[in-house]
Amino acid sequence: MVADSKTSAAAPTAAIRGPVLTFTGDPFKEGLEHTMVHESDAIVAFGGGKITHFGPANQIAQQLPPNLEVRSYGPDSLISAGFLDSHVHFPQTPMIAAFGAQLLDWLNIYTFPTEGKYSDKAFASGVAKVFLEECLRNGITTSCVYCTVFPQSVDALFEEAERLGMRIAAGKVLMNRNAPDYLLDTTQTGYDDSKMLIGKWHGRGRLMYAITPRFAPTSTPDQLESAGDLWNEHPDCYMQTHVSESRAEVAWVKELFPDRKGYLDVYDHYKLCRPRAVFGHGIHLDDSEMQCMHATGSAISHCPTSNFFLGSGHLNIKRAMLKDRPVRVGLGTDLGAGTSFSVLTTLNEAYKAAQLNNYALTAGCAYYFATRGTANAMYIDDKVGSIAPGMEADIVVLDMKSTPIIKYRMKSVKEFAEGLFVQMTMGDDRAVQATYIAGELRYSKPPR
Ligand code: GUN
Ligand code: ZN
Repeated sequence: MVADSKTSAAAPTAAIRGPVLTFTGDPFKEGLEHTMVHESDAIVAFGGGKITHFGPANQIAQQLPPNLEVRSYGPDSLISAGFLDSHVHFPQTPMIAAFGAQLLDWLNIYTFPTEGKYSDKAFASGVAKVFLEECLRNGITTSCVYCTVFPQSVDALFEEAERLGMRIAAGKVLMNRNAPDYLLDTTQTGYDDSKMLIGKWHGRGRLMYAITPRFAPTSTPDQLESAGDLWNEHPDCYMQTHVSESRAEVAWVKELFPDRKGYLDVYDHYKLCRPRAVFGHGIHLDDSEMQCMHATGSAISHCPTSNFFLGSGHLNIKRAMLKDRPVRVGLGTDLGAGTSFSVLTTLNEAYKAAQLNNYALTAGCAYYFATRGTANAMYIDDKVGSIAPGMEADIVVLDMKSTPIIKYRMKSVKEFAEGLFVQMTMGDDRAVQATYIAGELRYSKPPR
């Protein structure tokens, strides 16, 4: 598809020019030919935090105020909506690449001791700063973030995200059993602290609260019920947790909740399956559980670098997204079990995960997945995830020749989709040239 020249009412205060890729719908359902927009020379203008104009440069140029400076990124760039990360643990930033363990041991050996440090607000603020800077360096403009059990870790993250003007969702981990004492809350303190944080942060600017029971094994039935009650009192918040990530975890949940039909049924029973529920992984869900995901409007966050790193398995995205009962699926880095902040690297691993199921994830579908698709999984595709007037101006600009070998490979590229695939296979943080948050330039790659 070719972009029509479009505008919205607000006055533009800045504009950028270059090739643009965006989506007007879901290519998994409607096909790329009906949903993918590639404009080889476009202008995107913004004002008041939103996109005001988008279309072919020669048309839009005539509609802009004559004194408005247009920053040109050139023909080797690619302007896209900012990337979204639907599952990430900011407190695990200092422990990425922890050797030698699978999920349950990895939690006990590395994760819990690290998360214990976040009772210290100054420490939490320092990590939040590094984490969000790294998101921006990788073109991630929205994330759905786990903090720790300590409310001050949530304050630390939201304070920094607010300073940057980012649209993020985050929440205090609820965890009242099967973890070290120093990390446990109780059903009552977990509820009270979460409710206090919702009052303080949810809907403040672009910030959104996510009620965050870590996963079924670390919450008593009583705490899961209380999380369901809290969500019922604040239905426009998110709820995030993990489900069916590793086989050992699935077996453990069976022992802990013998009355439930399966892992997802534990959450469904406590009214935690509905729109704005984001379930990390979902690798080992059976067909009836996928049906429940679909029927309740819940989403899976697909986190391939983490799944390969921990040896958890891999999500069959073709099966999850089947046409007769499609499940909303977003992309996640799942740091620190995930190994990279780079969304391009994460797409590379998503491609490999799909290959293991004999499914070739096209580059077009992959870029949809990392932008509008994840926004759709999070029910914010009316706000972010695509380039169109009225959308929030969260934008990433890629450099399509970011390394010598990519530059060399791009010489033999014959069509746009091929170049896009080269980027997601070979690209990483070096491909991110600039990141805009609500129209403000928040990251610009230093000159080489
Ligand atoms: N399951 C419960 N907690 C975690 C976590 O921190 N990371 C991952 N990958 N899985 C989990
Ligand atoms: Zn996780």
